[in-house]
Amino acid sequence: GFHQRVFSGMQPTSTLHLGNYLGALTNWVAMQKTHECVFCVVDMHAITMWQDPADLKRAIREVTAAYIAAGIDPKKSIIFNQSQVPGHAELAWICNCVARLGWMNRMTQFKEKAGKDRENASLGLYAYPSLMAADILLYKATHVPVGEDQKQHLELTRDIAQKFNNDFAPQIAELGLGTGELGFFPLPEPMIMGPAQRVMSLRDGTKKMSKSDASDYSRINLTDDADAIAQKIRKAKTDPEALPSEAKGLEGRPEAENLVGIYAGLSGIAKAEVLQQFGGGQFSGFKAALVDLAVEKLAPIAGEMRRLLAEPKHIDAILGEGAAQADAIAAPIMREVKDIVGF
Ligand code: ADP
Ligand code: NA
Repeated sequence: GFHQRVFSGMQPTSTLHLGNYLGALTNWVAMQKTHECVFCVVDMHAITMWQDPADLKRAIREVTAAYIAAGIDPKKSIIFNQSQVPGHAELAWICNCVARLGWMNRMTQFKEKAGKDRENASLGLYAYPSLMAADILLYKATHVPVGEDQKQHLELTRDIAQKFNNDFAPQIAELGLGTGELGFFPLPEPMIMGPAQRVMSLRDGTKKMSKSDASDYSRINLTDDADAIAQKIRKAKTDPEALPSEAKGLEGRPEAENLVGIYAGLSGIAKAEVLQQFGGGQFSGFKAALVDLAVEKLAPIAGEMRRLLAEPKHIDAILGEGAAQADAIAAPIMREVKDIVGF
């Protein structure tokens, strides 16, 4: 079989928030114990939509600081940014030539992100899933932690890997570059770690907590200090009922469910246990406990980010070292890919 390796990444397009933390980063931190991990800051994906260059540079360092402050250890895992490893762009072109237009036309995220003015979307936005396939295949990653919104893209990655393995089967065999019957590229598996946690907006429990929400009170950013965290939780939308003592009582109460879920996620206990503790009580008391918990868990992350960001050279050094480590895996794979293709 293939050597087990995890690849994942986030776009440096804005400050990371509690949804990114509970939905992705905490899982990444846990995976470091069991897997070799490659964590990327996907700056090439970011420019598929317009980014101010100075903001982008700042956001690359900020996302890197968030990874580290959340517990990704650069001594255990590789942390780097995409544009520093040339194989991403090189393999993306080959993926573009393997992928079929029909496959790309089915990608739902492009339709959402391009909106109504599709003619004016960048070609990069359209090709985004093919670059994502290249990101994963460049490291022969076997496991990819994905949110619901990225599942279709991972399916496409598997289709591209499979078509490459089939199209070039004779060359792969002749060069002795296959892994048994499995081909050259592994078909990466989606990885759902623990209870996949979807964090909703603090202003509207039916909408995902998102960087693109116009309301600052809809999300807790990882850079928020204790005061900001407390204010946002106090202002969070609730309903007039008391907290139920059983999970069933959260049905049809998305805001209540979300706050209970956040408490569970931050404390690492089940929702049912949270309700055993707070059921029957009013939101004011529960919110006070949630403020304490969130400040205890999140304020140190913001503090560590501030400390890291005060020394941008140190962050750049970590990214530089990570890029060298990533390239040490990617470059030999890329040389083999070129050989297979006939370059
Ligand atoms: P990108 O455009 O880089 O994918 P996102 O912010 O959409 O940025 O997502 C980054 C990661 O954070 C993904 O793994 C996604 O599933 C996760 N994520 C984003 N928002 C939430 C949320 N509200 N709840 C849970 N996970 C989330
Ligand atoms: Na996303």
